[in-house]
Amino acid sequence: MRRKIVAGNWKMNKTFQEADELINEIIEGLEDANHKGVDVVLCPPFTFMEMTTDYAQESEYAVGAQNVSSFDSGAYTGEVSAKMLHSMGVEYCIIGHSERRKYFNETDEQLTQKAELLLKYNILPIFCCGELLPEREAANHFEVVKSQIENTIFKLEPLDFAKVIIAYEPVWAIGTGVTATSDQAQEMHVFIRNLISEKYGKEIAKNTSILYGGSCNAINAKELFANPDVDGGLIGGASLIAIDFLKIIESF
Ligand code: PGA
Repeated sequence: MRRKIVAGNWKMNKTFQEADELINEIIEGLEDANHKGVDVVLCPPFTFMEMTTDYAQESEYAVGAQNVSSFDSGAYTGEVSAKMLHSMGVEYCIIGHSERRKYFNETDEQLTQKAELLLKYNILPIFCCGELLPEREAANHFEVVKSQIENTIFKLEPLDFAKVIIAYEPVWAIGTGVTATSDQAQEMHVFIRNLISEKYGKEIAKNTSILYGGSCNAINAKELFANPDVDGGLIGGASLIAIDFLKIIESF
């Protein structure tokens, strides 16, 4: 079902104490903030997952993971499975983030496995896609995003695909302070929705949440979210500061 979502991707930031402080500031802020109709998701590192899911029981946010193993269970040292995440109350999981594609060489095949496992354990994948700067400069951005989607989440059955959330994150905008213009975001989101419509039909396309990510902040969120096909944001840097994150949530 299409929803407005603001998800905070903390990446590899914060100590245990700092995370505790940030969550408490967000909880307090959410009590006062006007966030009706917006699903708030916090995606901390695994180490803070238990604390985040514990606090979530008394607050109005949901918890997401930043990654999951492409294996179901067993002898995979250092990995965390979808089943484990589910058992802790995690409801969302980011997959395909450009940092994982770049630094950890994640492949389309692994991403497809991750999506399937998450859905098996009732966790909603937040699937990231987006082009590099040279790809945009070469006017190749639509093709790049199309193939990222076609080679992964389009392998899912319609009922499974219908649960996937997509995050369009142009790589040149991530952590750079350079955001896509409102028109660039809307144009790509429409393109993605049309791809979904061709593959799975109008109804599923209409009901898919497509988020924007990449230097989205308290100042530009309003304009980005005003686009009819931008259903929210995946927020990195600005999600580490409670007041900024809360402002973004209130930007709808
Ligand atoms: P940013 O990161 O908001 O810091 O650009 C977004 C993301 O990587 O999800």
